[in-house]
Parts: sequence; C-alpha cells; structure tokens
Amino acid sequence: MAKKFTIAGLELANRYVQAPLAGFSDVAMRIAAARHGAGLVYTEMISAAALARHSEETLEMVRETKRDECPVALQLFGSDAEELRTAIRICEAEGRYAFLDFNLGCPVPKVMKQDAGSHLLTDLDKAYSLVKTMVETSSIPIVVKTRLGYSNPEDCVKIVQMLVSAGVSAIAMHGRTRNEFYTGLPHYDLLTKARQACPVPFIANGNIGPDNALSIMESTSADAVMIGRNAIGNPLVFTDLLAVEDGLERPVRAVETQAQLLREQLALEYSRNVPPAKISVEFRAAAPAFFQGLPNARRIRGLLVHCSSQEEYLQAVDRIVEVARDGEEIQD
Ligand SMILES: Cc1cc2nc3c(=O)[nH]c(=O)nc-3n(C[C@H](O)[C@H](O)[C@H](O)COP(=O)(O)O)c2cc1C
Repeated sequence: MAKKFTIAGLELANRYVQAPLAGFSDVAMRIAAARHGAGLVYTEMISAAALARHSEETLEMVRETKRDECPVALQLFGSDAEELRTAIRICEAEGRYAFLDFNLGCPVPKVMKQDAGSHLLTDLDKAYSLVKTMVETSSIPIVVKTRLGYSNPEDCVKIVQMLVSAGVSAIAMHGRTRNEFYTGLPHYDLLTKARQACPVPFIANGNIGPDNALSIMESTSADAVMIGRNAIGNPLVFTDLLAVEDGLERPVRAVETQAQLLREQLALEYSRNVPPAKISVEFRAAAPAFFQGLPNARRIRGLLVHCSSQEEYLQAVDRIVEVARDGEEIQD
C-alpha cells in the first residue's frame, strides 16, 4: 500500500508527482501519468502575462484540465503582481485545479528576460512580494517550485524561509542552482537542509526515478518526490515507483507495451482542442522517448520526427514494433 501525503488538507494517493515540463506536460501526458499511478501532476508553465491579455491559446491550456484524472497543479510564471492576480482569477474560473504553483526556477532566457522564473531568485524581496500577493488573492492553495538558489546552492534555506513566510502550502525544490541548469548531480544533502527549514510539505526533485526515490525520501525526509525527464514517454515510471515501494520486481517492458503507451498518449493528444498540425509537430519531441532503451535510437527518432498526422505516427510505430520484433535494422 503506497504511503500518501497531504497538501493543504488534500490527501494525495501517493508520493509520486509528475513535474511541470514545458512542451510535454499537456493534458494528454498528465492523463497518461495519472492512469499509470501519479499522485499529483503539474501543467507546463503558463504565462500570467499571456493569460492577462486573454491569449486564446494560453486560455486553452488552462481549460484543458477539465479532463484530467487526478489532482493537478497549474504552474504560472510571471513577474507582475497585477497580471498574476488576473491569471489566478482566470484559473479559478476556467479550471479544476487542486493547487496553483508559481515558477521560481526556470533558467531559460525567454523567461529570465521577463524577470520571471529563476531570475526572481536574484531578488528575494520581489519574489516574496509576488508569492504573498498570490497567496492573498487565490482561493486555491499556492505552492512553489524552485531551485536551491541562483548561483549559490546554500541559499536554499533562505529561499524556503522566504516562501514559508509568504504563506505557501508546499514547496517543490530542484536540487540544483539556476546556473547548474540540468547537469551535474543534484545536491541532495542541501535538499535535506532545506527540508529541515520547511514546516510545509516538501517535494524533492532532480534525477529521481524508481532506483533512488525511496532512498532520497529517506535521506532528505522529503514528503514526496517529483519526476521530470524520467516521465517523458514513460508514464509507467509511476507504476514502477509504486511497485518498488511495495517491494515488487520492476517488469521488463516489451516493445509492444512501449508502442501501446505511445498509441494511448497519441489518441489523447489528438483529442485535444488544438489544431492537429500543431499536435503533430509538438509530439515529435516526446515520441522517441517512448522507445528508450531500444537499439537503433537514432533511426527510431528518424521515423518519428517527420510524422505529420496521427496516421503517420501509427504507421511509424507499427514499423518500429515490426523491426524490433524481427531484430532487423531499422532503415532511415
Ligand atoms: C524539457 C523540460 C521542460 C521543463 N519545463 C519546466 C516548467 O515548465 N516548469 C518548471 O518549473 N520546471 C520545468 N522543467 C524542470 C523540471 O520540472 C525538473 O525540475 C527538472 O527536469 C529536474 O528534474 P528531473 O531530473 O526529474 O528531470 C523542465 C525541464 C525540462 C527538461
């Protein structure tokens, strides 16, 4: 029986959280993750500025949650209090969100230039004021996903204290600084330190999967773990995490299982209220990840990255299964 954890009075079925992943964690990925065991899922980061100017495409990202199958946290990014207030009102009215998250960790220039994401870690007073505004505005509990610091990982304790005094209901912390991006080993020892300073639920993040989730929860005392890249093209990572917690063996996956997971997510992707041509292009980033571990990765990618319709994806998947089964080389 999986251990549960609770944020702001809402009990989550287990301690495995699907991370916010721009370009990936749309409603299709979230439903797949929920079906295969995730206890909580996050949307991609959504621009408060775009919501405040009623961008139809961005509004659709908010509406999509009506179809999610487990509790969802919607993640906002921004740097303007008024825009965040407007965005929160829209999320309250349009969505079905358990939590609203504020992004204090994104390192990409497009977001940093707007003084948002991890750029706010260079000005903790401003970050505090924005988070406090969100807490005071929102009827939905506010949580924050952040990093250890901008350049100094030891800032993690200061950041936790700032967020707690602003009134957040939980903190998810990626065990790297902004300057470390996604590389090098996360500083799990500092996540432990941050956790000790955190009286609200604490979710550890960074290079976590079925092999280390339990030991990281144990060593850091985190209440839960957040899974990012390991969940892309791999919704069964949540099934594996639950199996490991139950002391069960992790099954080896047949190529047909991987193909079936892709088909399942593909059907969900094309049932979204988004132009199919856009879906086709966006799904090219996730599709090859469903076949991780197979030989011929480059050729598998080659078959999937030109697909321009659901039909073409299905044909490419059939071809990959066929050749993997026959053990033949996939031709470009
Ligand atoms: C492609 C990609 C997109 C991401 N998008 C977001 C995002 O929208 N919001 C966010 O807070 N973090 C985002 N992240 C960071 C992840 O949520 C996570 O913190 C990071 O990948 C480390 O966890 P992992 O090692 O389990 O992947 C993104 C990471 C990647 C690789």
